[in-house]
Amino acid sequence: MKRTAIAPSNLALIKYWGLNDDAIRLPTNSSISFNLDNLLTKTTVEFSDEYKTDQIEINSEKTGSKIERVIKHLTLIRNIAGINLAAKVVSKNNFPTATGLSSSASGFAALTVAAVAASGLSLSEKKLSIIARQGSGSACRSIPDAFVEWEKGNDSKSSYAKQIFATSWWDIVDVVCILSSGEKYLSTSKGHTLAKTSPFFKTRINLIEQKINDLKKSISEKNFTDFGTLVESEAIELHAMMLTANPSLLYLYPETLLLINHVKKWREAGFVNYFSLNTGHNVHIICEGKNIAELKSRLDRLKFIKQYIVNKVAIGTRLSLEHLF
Ligand code: PMV
Repeated sequence: MKRTAIAPSNLALIKYWGLNDDAIRLPTNSSISFNLDNLLTKTTVEFSDEYKTDQIEINSEKTGSKIERVIKHLTLIRNIAGINLAAKVVSKNNFPTATGLSSSASGFAALTVAAVAASGLSLSEKKLSIIARQGSGSACRSIPDAFVEWEKGNDSKSSYAKQIFATSWWDIVDVVCILSSGEKYLSTSKGHTLAKTSPFFKTRINLIEQKINDLKKSISEKNFTDFGTLVESEAIELHAMMLTANPSLLYLYPETLLLINHVKKWREAGFVNYFSLNTGHNVHIICEGKNIAELKSRLDRLKFIKQYIVNKVAIGTRLSLEHLF
């Protein structure tokens, strides 16, 4: 059977950083995100006895560590479905590759939903989220719609994401600003294993439940100032963990700091916007939907920004009838 899925990437507001169990990707803390409607991966999977071995093509790549990771995930799904067929997989992002934008969330969410359907199974959103988590942790948050919480759980069955607010709840926008071409110098998976080497990691974990509750409160009250303040402090905290890890991880470029300073200066002068960061040099800028034209015109004037992508809050992963082969 051939099946195709489209998955959004997501922006973590409370970050997943660090693992309690590397093998099945059980995170040290719960996290919160929203899905991004313009950073999408489309993946078609077909299991068939016509294929002698797995044939994988991800944004034109056919070999390498990414492909090995996809095969491992396919095998997990084959074991759940009780099938032993090889697969053909073609996957494409709608955003430029090699720009340091992480595509593992959308990639493993789309792969999970397409491969599960192609295997003949029909699984609940919860089960799909549990499977996606094992491909890439953040992928479990791209399965449900809109604003999502991934509860860390204490075993594989209890660690999955669910929707906490709908797409229509709040008109906020995430503008992803691409500052330089070039992939990340260190994979995020490796970063997770170093998280606990930061002397500040324990303090982060002690305070995280309160931060999660405060963030959920700010979304439920649509309090953009509280929301943005928490999101920014969480982005800085993520990078504090990385900078103080052993060995230290430095993802920020001079342009990253330059843009962050613009965001702060604009805010001090009355234009309400906040930034977020992931494991990379690119900057996410969040504003209320009513302010997007103003934000775009400010970004257009900053010539060091290579490209920006405007995202609204999106639905989660869905099947599509338009196959890639
Ligand atoms: O799912 P991964 O292994 O790509 O990890 C994602 C890590 C961060 O993007 C930094 C935070 C997050 O929660 O998405």
